[in-house]
Amino acid sequence: MYPSSTLKTGPIGVFDSGYGGLTILEKFRELLPQYDYLYLGDNARTPYGSRSFEIVYEFTLQAVKKLFGLGCPLVVIACNTASAKALRTIQQHDLPHLDPTRRVLGVIRPTVECIGHVTRTRHVGLLATVGTVKSQSYPLEIKKLFPDVQVTGEACPLWVPLVENNEYDSEGADYFVKKYINELLEKDPETDTIILGCTHYPLLQEKIRQFTPPHIRLIAQGELVAESLKDYLHRHPEMNARCTRGRHCRFLTTESVEKFRESASVFLHDKEVDVRNVVLE
Ligand code: DGL
Repeated sequence: MYPSSTLKTGPIGVFDSGYGGLTILEKFRELLPQYDYLYLGDNARTPYGSRSFEIVYEFTLQAVKKLFGLGCPLVVIACNTASAKALRTIQQHDLPHLDPTRRVLGVIRPTVECIGHVTRTRHVGLLATVGTVKSQSYPLEIKKLFPDVQVTGEACPLWVPLVENNEYDSEGADYFVKKYINELLEKDPETDTIILGCTHYPLLQEKIRQFTPPHIRLIAQGELVAESLKDYLHRHPEMNARCTRGRHCRFLTTESVEKFRESASVFLHDKEVDVRNVVLE
């Protein structure tokens, strides 16, 4: 129905509300360095964590349309909040009209696939934004795969602002990191595995480790999502063929280019960051 000559080829799109998705992009570039990537951070409107379903869906759809418009055949929503609130609607409702040959993937499913094999007590904790916790996406996905696993969520509304404002290594961060972990463990002391369900949290990981009892396993997403993308491309050769391979990585931000360059340096190791401003509407 769609002759391959008419199918768009281009970079893999990676979207986040801000800088957090850069922790996922970094793992993509380590595991799958051959591809081109186009990262879009909606830095002007971050954080998404406390926004309503309707707004997160609207913003995420705008971002997907922009990345499609710039030629991405495949977009990864590297944001848990957007994956929780918008991914399913975009996949089921919007994609058939926008372009049924393109794909949009999220970060929740790849993260939960390992959970049942890691937890022994079958008690799993989730640290994430208010939006992700409220959406119940993690417990629902985990129940589908591992019905005997119990999930307790704790929203950490101050962690993303700490990271976005470069305060993730401060004493103030200590207080709030400790607070949310203790609250989670008070709710369920049998927890033996904690999912870091927000792409900003790897920046806080050292502190999170410091304030988490050593027997508790922390699950970060980057490597899991990268492995899952690799597997996806392997299982979908027609999509794999549409992802261009030039090892280029470009960045788009809805904020100022200077601000992105400065803040992104915390996440990225590139000497030169090719970043442009973009308007989402
Ligand atoms: N990094 C995003 C996530 O994984 C959320 C940050 C935000 O609140 O915008 O949930």
